[in-house]
Amino acid sequence: MAEVPGNEAQDSAESSEAHIAVHWREEEYYDPPPEFTAQANANDPAIRDRFTEDKFPECFTEYADLLAWDERWHTTLDTSNAPFWKWFVGGKLNASYNCVDRHLAERADRPAMIWVPEPEDADHVTITYRELHRQVNEFAALLRDFCGVEAGDRVTLHMPMVPELPVAMLACARLGAIHSQVFGGFSGAACGHRIADSGSKILITMDGYYRSGAMQDHKVKADEAVEAARKEGAEVEKVLVFRRSPGQYQSGTPMVEGRDVFVDEVLPSYSGQTVDPVSMPAEAPLFLMYTSGTTGRPKGCQHSTGGYLAYVTGTSKYYQDIHPDDMYWCMADIGWITGHSYIVYGPLSLGTTSVIYEGTPNYPDAGRPWRIAEKLKVNIFHTSPTAIRMLRKVGPDEPAKYDFQFKHMTTVGEPIEPEVWRWYYQSIGKRKAVIVDTWWQTETGGFLGSTLPGLDKMKPGSCGPAALGIYAEILDENGEPVPAGSGRAGNIIIRNPWPGVFQTIWGTPERFVQTYYAKYNKDPDSKDWRDWPYFAGDGALQAPDGYFRILGRVDDVINVAGHRLGTKELESSALTVVEVAEAAAVPVIDDIRGRVVEMYVSLKPGYSPSTEIENKVKEAIETDIGKIARPKNIWIVPDMPKTRSGKIMRRVIAATSNFADVGDITTLANPEVVDGIRHQVQAAKHARGEVPRELTETELAEIKSFGAE
Ligand code: WTA
Repeated sequence: MAEVPGNEAQDSAESSEAHIAVHWREEEYYDPPPEFTAQANANDPAIRDRFTEDKFPECFTEYADLLAWDERWHTTLDTSNAPFWKWFVGGKLNASYNCVDRHLAERADRPAMIWVPEPEDADHVTITYRELHRQVNEFAALLRDFCGVEAGDRVTLHMPMVPELPVAMLACARLGAIHSQVFGGFSGAACGHRIADSGSKILITMDGYYRSGAMQDHKVKADEAVEAARKEGAEVEKVLVFRRSPGQYQSGTPMVEGRDVFVDEVLPSYSGQTVDPVSMPAEAPLFLMYTSGTTGRPKGCQHSTGGYLAYVTGTSKYYQDIHPDDMYWCMADIGWITGHSYIVYGPLSLGTTSVIYEGTPNYPDAGRPWRIAEKLKVNIFHTSPTAIRMLRKVGPDEPAKYDFQFKHMTTVGEPIEPEVWRWYYQSIGKRKAVIVDTWWQTETGGFLGSTLPGLDKMKPGSCGPAALGIYAEILDENGEPVPAGSGRAGNIIIRNPWPGVFQTIWGTPERFVQTYYAKYNKDPDSKDWRDWPYFAGDGALQAPDGYFRILGRVDDVINVAGHRLGTKELESSALTVVEVAEAAAVPVIDDIRGRVVEMYVSLKPGYSPSTEIENKVKEAIETDIGKIARPKNIWIVPDMPKTRSGKIMRRVIAATSNFADVGDITTLANPEVVDGIRHQVQAAKHARGEVPRELTETELAEIKSFGAE
């Protein structure tokens, strides 16, 4: 269901949108610091003229020209199989060559990556471009000759934040193999589904890694993953296990004979070997990145080699303002799209230094990020609202204690509250750094909405205008434009294709068309890109100045600390607990993590509520998805509020969990249960001290229309 906040019923849609209009206060602008603008890659307003709609799609050759091509393309955009766009057709290139080899002539001895281990007494590790080249080649040789990996094969990675992860990604890319990195925090089972879905025969993992001061046993997840994949009929042939400290195995699980191999034992056989980068067609897939959506299981977003690399390189240059001599630190995890695009591919393609930090930002205390920034002289910093909220809460005075100065900072992944933005600007940026609030998605490869940092004024809470060459608009449910300045929310869409957009959902092209293009397409046979607006699945408003304010997902996705969790995934996992008859997941507003999940369950006849069942549900979710998905509370209720057609009305329980008005319940088949649930949940929350602050209009609109029926 694609619904904008407040759209669940005509009358409440009007009231919530009107509400926003009445109370909407425009934030004040902040100017980019002149010192920043003076050195910015994009500091001439004429850049916008190069990306106007009449120049589309050729405008994007400017991004593709930042790359080294083995063969130049003959067709910039091929729309003949709309909406399966093909960019730079006829062109050939290799992503690993672009991120590694081509920098050797000029900066072989410059650091490509600096890895900061979590234990603070351990030194950071510098990997120059020359060293990166050696490691990527040797590992590519191992993949090719020891594992038989060829172009087009899928290889699943389940790696923590260590330099071996980008090395493995780039080694796959060197061979033309498609990597699929699963976020290290995801469970073994979650990894196993992705192995099976992608048809990977090789799993690359690590024995353990540090998180919040403790060594995590990670290899154990590989065994679970192989088992989960096997249940789906997929056989993993080899598990390559990196050891965080070579020679020293830090996992309790045994190595499986014939299947599991320590990389540090095999790699010496490939010492000094080089592998020619395989020249790949621009439209060959580079990687898969799984993400959650409305229905069913996570979908493998397939990204291309030429279009993707061109787009992340161009946006890294103009929006991240990366110069080769910068010290760039993005604190995201490489297991998410942000890390792929803006830790690995974009920065390395531009030949800069990318800092990779293993652990949690507040370990051992909230001064850690600032000590890293001071020591390494980081000048570009990239993080999420959740991290900013957390650092603000636990260490508001820490940034001032350290001698660092960023020129540029990014916020990404969730809407940022204006007061949190201002703290970022004043305390972390020390009023001298420019901020970009970049709105985009796993599917989009790179930024869709952001200010151009050297040129545009910043406005807290708004991402800014659409990015260069992106023509965004807000449409209502009927496809009518919602004008800028109307104060009304709607669905944000992108009218045109762009090089970074994903190519398809791995294995399910019909779902790709259905989810992202069917909503506003009027002619399924059209070959004209103008007939295929990209449906982003986010609610948004556009101010009179053209700036977009992103409100959040309009589908059944809960954004927890910047991580997309599908309610269906959470619910199916809860339903694996034998006692559970029904389950419904809802978002609860949280001052640090943005949203957290609460799960309502009803039990099968013959069972009574117990903390044991609550824990079983929490554990089931942790096992199937991972710790990040663990619900804050499980509410075992006698009955769920349901419509007459039997659908659980999630907006009613979402309102209950957030102490909001439950709204119109006349369409419920069992309105009498609502009061009982409210009493049960809210009394327990009072007892636990979990009463939320007063919600903003946009938060209320989201909650009151959640999973709208
Ligand atoms: C949300 C992360 C507000 C949005 C790059 C989107 C944002 C989803 C912003 C994608 C932002 C991302 N302001 N909301 N700057 N950036 N989002 O796929 O709801 O993990 O649809 O990609 O995060 O999350 P994903």
